[in-house]
Amino acid sequence: MTDTRWTRRDVVLACAVMGSMPVAGLADERRMISRPIPASDERLPVIGLGTYSVFDVESTPGQIATSREIVELLLGAGGNVIDTSPMYNRSEKVIGDIIASGAPRDAMFIATKVWTDGRNAGIEQMSRSARLMNTDVIDLMQVHNLRDSGVHMRSIRELQEQGKIRYSGLTHYRAGAHDALEKAVRDYRPQFLQINYSLSEREADQRLLPMAQDLGVGVIVNRPYQAGGLFSAVRGRKLPEWAGEFAASWGQFFLKFIISHPAVTCVIPATSKPQHMRDNLEAGFGELPDAATRERMVAFIREL
Ligand SMILES: NC(=O)c1ccc[n+]([C@@H]2O[C@H](COP(=O)([O-])OP(=O)(O)OC[C@H]3O[C@@H](n4cnc5c(N)ncnc54)[C@H](OP(=O)(O)O)[C@@H]3O)[C@@H](O)[C@H]2O)c1
Repeated sequence: MTDTRWTRRDVVLACAVMGSMPVAGLADERRMISRPIPASDERLPVIGLGTYSVFDVESTPGQIATSREIVELLLGAGGNVIDTSPMYNRSEKVIGDIIASGAPRDAMFIATKVWTDGRNAGIEQMSRSARLMNTDVIDLMQVHNLRDSGVHMRSIRELQEQGKIRYSGLTHYRAGAHDALEKAVRDYRPQFLQINYSLSEREADQRLLPMAQDLGVGVIVNRPYQAGGLFSAVRGRKLPEWAGEFAASWGQFFLKFIISHPAVTCVIPATSKPQHMRDNLEAGFGELPDAATRERMVAFIREL
């Protein structure tokens, strides 16, 4: 699992194992935009997958098939980041079932979280997550919503030394927690920060994103669509003509705003639908808006 780059041959082999076709036209000739993880220079593809609520499904063949198709699309397009949490009920188990059914674990970058109080409960929860996901090593372990951060960051470091976790992180999803998150990043120096940032929630522009750049902390962006609220804001509207140079859908417009920020390593939109996964993945290719266009995007959304 040291090299997570995913070649065209790997995609074809994995899809053959999983009994499906790679995403035509995505991984074929183009390579998804990727960013180095500041702590290691390993590269992460910019479009990942969130699993909150959307992977909390029954472990029936039909339900798993749809979740598996979404993961196949991600891997087939050259993406690899899958974000989950023990807080997301059955999601970790669903990821484990997908791996057990033949999805290539080594092609994934699995990020989960610890969400409990106390050292023993935290260590027990982290090891349960690894068991549920059928993996010996978790790529990224994040303290969920800063819950008992000091205690869990110490345990995560110990598990990193034992080779059971590769990277550490802290998460939150509300701007009201950004001050506390900033302090925790300075105190505990995680390798990743996971925060809310989107065209409708831009508070991270002020301090968190510049701080992450200064300190060399990777940034994973959650709630890129404000949990779907951004789509409601543009319902019935056409994409502006000037956006056609870099986006073919509202989803791509929203995601490209995020990944064009230089501090952002990866974004993790959640979806329960393969066609939305395809749409999201397409944002990992082609032109990105420049600084002036980003301002135009902000003004456009503000005026809605
Ligand atoms: N504290 C934390 O650590 C924290 C907090 C919040 C979120 N997160 C992480 O961040 C991930 C993303 O955040 P989120 O789940 O809150 O919300 P989100 O990704 O901002 O939005 C998800 C919503 O967007 C819809 N959607 C996705 N792609 C679409 C497309 N191309 N076109 C139209 N609709 C689309 C989905 O519906 P469909 O299912 O119909 O596609 C879903 O309703 C989470 O799943 C989780 O992994 C972490």
